[in-house]
Amino acid sequence: MMYLGGLVQLILSALLGAAAADTACSNAPSRLHLSDPPYDNYLYSDCHSSTHVVVTSPLKTSNLKVIGPRLLIAWPSGNSGAAAIFVPEDGSTGTLAIKLDKSETGNEIEGIYVQDPLEYGVFGWVNFNSSARLTIPILGSIRTIRDYTEGGNVLEPTIQDGIVTTQGPNGSASYCRTWFDHTTTTCLMFAPTNGAAPIRINKGPKWTMTFGAGTYLFNAVFNYPQMKQLLPAEVLNSASRSLIQSNEDQTTSLSFLSYSDKLLAGTWRFLTYFGRDSMITLLLMQPVLSEGKGGAIEAVIGAALERVNNTDGSACHEEVIGDYATFTHKQAGIASNDPLCDYKMVDTDYFLPIVLKNYLVDTATGKSRTSDFLSTKATFLKENNGLTYKTLAEMTTNKILAATAPFAKDGGQKKENLIKLKTGQPVGQWRDSANGLGGGRIPYDVNTALVPAALRAIAQLSKSGLFPDHAWWGTFAEAYASVWEDKTLSFFEVTVEKSKAISDVQSYVSQSKFSGPSNTGNIAADVTFHGLALNDSNNQAIVRVMNTDDCFRHFLLNTTDQKQLSSFLDQTAEHILQPFPVGLSTDVGLFVANPAYGENDAYISDFTNSGYHGTVVWGWQLAMMAAGLSRQLGRCSGANMPGKISRPQIILSVYAAS
Ligand SMILES: *[C@@H]1O[C@H](CO)[C@@H](O)[C@H](O)[C@H]1NC(C)=O
Ligand SMILES: *[C@@H]1O[C@H](CO)[C@@H](O)[C@H](O)[C@H]1NC(C)=O
Ligand SMILES: *[C@@H]1O[C@H](CO)[C@@H](O)[C@H](O)[C@H]1NC(C)=O
Ligand SMILES: *[C@@H]1O[C@H](CO)[C@@H](O)[C@H](O)[C@H]1NC(C)=O
Ligand SMILES: *[C@@H]1O[C@H](CO)[C@@H](O)[C@H](O)[C@H]1NC(C)=O
Repeated sequence: MMYLGGLVQLILSALLGAAAADTACSNAPSRLHLSDPPYDNYLYSDCHSSTHVVVTSPLKTSNLKVIGPRLLIAWPSGNSGAAAIFVPEDGSTGTLAIKLDKSETGNEIEGIYVQDPLEYGVFGWVNFNSSARLTIPILGSIRTIRDYTEGGNVLEPTIQDGIVTTQGPNGSASYCRTWFDHTTTTCLMFAPTNGAAPIRINKGPKWTMTFGAGTYLFNAVFNYPQMKQLLPAEVLNSASRSLIQSNEDQTTSLSFLSYSDKLLAGTWRFLTYFGRDSMITLLLMQPVLSEGKGGAIEAVIGAALERVNNTDGSACHEEVIGDYATFTHKQAGIASNDPLCDYKMVDTDYFLPIVLKNYLVDTATGKSRTSDFLSTKATFLKENNGLTYKTLAEMTTNKILAATAPFAKDGGQKKENLIKLKTGQPVGQWRDSANGLGGGRIPYDVNTALVPAALRAIAQLSKSGLFPDHAWWGTFAEAYASVWEDKTLSFFEVTVEKSKAISDVQSYVSQSKFSGPSNTGNIAADVTFHGLALNDSNNQAIVRVMNTDDCFRHFLLNTTDQKQLSSFLDQTAEHILQPFPVGLSTDVGLFVANPAYGENDAYISDFTNSGYHGTVVWGWQLAMMAAGLSRQLGRCSGANMPGKISRPQIILSVYAAS
């Protein structure tokens, strides 16, 4: 009841056009509108909280089975949010359009901050072009909303049953749900404006709401503790602040995803810590990110260290926080709101020493921060409470050295000593969809690039005196690194004889119904590439899918076997120059996978343009490929590159064009 009182107060102040905030912020709110029909995205942040609002209104061309009218509110804090799914009240599917109207201030979204009772959130005006029914509200965790939208419309009864529907004054109505923590409440409230019909609540097994055509005030609030967002000028280093003017949308987005204790993966669907994603972001963006205490670089590295599994040293892939954490504990019969971590990936461990070394060894600020940063005591995971960042870094280092030793031993260069996906897990690196690795269990990127790069980084960290209690680590890591660098590539190598390559591509084109040309006239020699992984479900030795994962090796390693490096660069150049389906090149960028040489019908049906890791383009893979080739070319002029790289002129032209 107290809560509804607060809501009414908010409706009133909003209707009166007053800013619904008790305390003004010194900076103007940050706003970004990204229109991508059928989606309209509004990012809003002020000194109190951050919110992403997504309005979906189906287009004439939309698949109406998947895309329907929806209002979604996502909050980084607690990885939480609210969603309202609408259907036309009278007409058939596809006849209801929804949009946000601008307020008198010219904005679609305004912030809400009330101290007593505590409320954070946003309000705005949603317009229906004909009468609408809100059939499904979801309140609580982004994970719950994602499970619904991407998990086959699954709704968890114990979550849905907690929703309380209330008719408010003057035709308003609200849905509220108290989280499993018994403390946090999320509310979504609507009120008619400009003569729109009062909202009718339809009681039944599920309580729905009916709206007339017209505009309704909506108000989405919750009372969970907020994080400290890094403003654009705080995420970027001082040398890069001009980007705030020159790349306003990108820096606003980056800031929206950046907080003092972690950087978040993509909004709205993820919007929380993901280890691999934030460390890759750091690797690619370090030249522009802020250093030092409270900066973006320490936020990324600190977040990864905080979440290390202190039993086996594994780095955390995804955190589970907020309502979903309590829910997950509850399912295991435990009453707890403590955060959880998912450790199923195998690649994330290896990024950690690389980002540590790039900061603590390679930058002046990092060097000066080493002692303070590493003596920081962990606070995020209960089980790590009080352990220092140094101890946690050592745990992961120890795990890496143990896992990589067998392959590095004399005579140990065998397939069974390579790094595999964890038992029972179908995924383990960035291609983490069911078919992303084509059923393979020994991933190419991890074994040929991440492992040796991590070992080199450990050697450097050790040389810089980071692990004084383990003086031998540096020498071992250095020795292991050489073996992993030089001896892993050959396991993944695939060579397809020229005439076979031509017939493979032709049969791919006819089987996949690819509408473009086969381009087989471009195949002038045998085709060589490195498969995605080893051992697939059909017991083929190599998953023969051409891919962009060469970029990791180019970006992360200065290999010294010149002959191997020359031919490796040569085949990458070939793949990225050759048009798909001979190579990877398309008008929109490199496809991350090309199954044409797979000799496996399953690859053709799995690696499609609707596959998460199929014949699709991933932006960061393009960036890493370009940056990696640039690094390798940079070595041609460097003193440490005595050998000659074959055909550097081709690679140069590729880099210039990308
Ligand atoms: C509302 O918009 C939808 C989608 O554009 C359209 O099909 C429908 O005719 C519109 N309804 C009215 C009453 O304008
Ligand atoms: C309801 O509307 C009437 C008439 O506009 C207004 O006087 C009253 O304050 C409203 N009540 C609430 C609780 O909003
Ligand atoms: C941490 O690692 C240990 C040993 O591998 C494992 O038993 C445990 O389940 C892991 N912790 C979590 C939370 O996954
Ligand atoms: C890969 O598959 C082969 C053939 O099925 C099998 O003999 C081998 O043990 C597998 N290796 C690994 C490392 O799983
Ligand atoms: C590779 O060598 C270049 C100098 O040619 C150096 O700047 C870079 O840091 C080296 N990278 C690694 C990963 O060692």
